Amino acid sequence: MAFTFFFRDLPTLHAIRDYVIPELKNNKYINVWDAGCAMGPEPYSLAIIFKESLGYYQFKRLKIYATDLDEESHDFGKIIAKGIYPEETVKRIPKDIFKKYFSSNNKPGYFKISDEIMQRVSFQKHNLRSLTPVRDNFGLIVCKNVLLHFPEDERIKVIKMFYKALSPGCFFATEQTQKMPKESAHLFKHIKQNIQLFQKTK
Ligand SMILES: C[S@@+](CC[C@H](N)C(=O)[O-])C[C@H]1O[C@@H](n2cnc3c(N)ncnc32)[C@H](O)[C@@H]1O
Repeated sequence: MAFTFFFRDLPTLHAIRDYVIPELKNNKYINVWDAGCAMGPEPYSLAIIFKESLGYYQFKRLKIYATDLDEESHDFGKIIAKGIYPEETVKRIPKDIFKKYFSSNNKPGYFKISDEIMQRVSFQKHNLRSLTPVRDNFGLIVCKNVLLHFPEDERIKVIKMFYKALSPGCFFATEQTQKMPKESAHLFKHIKQNIQLFQKTK
């Protein structure tokens, strides 16, 4: 199921703004992996959150690797590359943010995300079950509403793969209802109560 929308789970986005971005903003490269990104609202919401907190040149150093299995061939890659989304997926975006980063499209009821945001996100097909990361040295890995469908042993293997793909002291975020399995809890420090944001132990 690929249900998703922009600015889903605002508390986690705010935790990323408050705890993750200050740690990464002065890095030479800011690499983010959004694993199980569906059709793009989540990686684009992340790009907007970074844009709001970074300077011009810092933002140019951000690269978001948006990946998904895209099993039913929804062509997520093409949807993300177009950056045009229906009203129902954008209506929860705070008004000031929406005005800054979206414009009306020729098609009534659809909105186009700005080029500066789109340029920071690239899509590739990837199966988390391969247990092979798309690269290493990530500053942040976001994997939300994906692992709940995995059996516990596979979920632990994927989280351990994320751990290896993160730079020391960097971050992993998952959905609020997902608990860190005890088998991988020692690999991370839990950053904030009620938010599933974790920092890789050094
Ligand atoms: C409910 S959507 C979540 C989208 C987004 N992360 C969010 O929270 O709004 C779940 C996504 O996980 C993807 N997915 C499921 N199994 C996967 C796998 N083995 N590897 C990569 N993506 C997978 C699905 O294709 C789907 O797009």
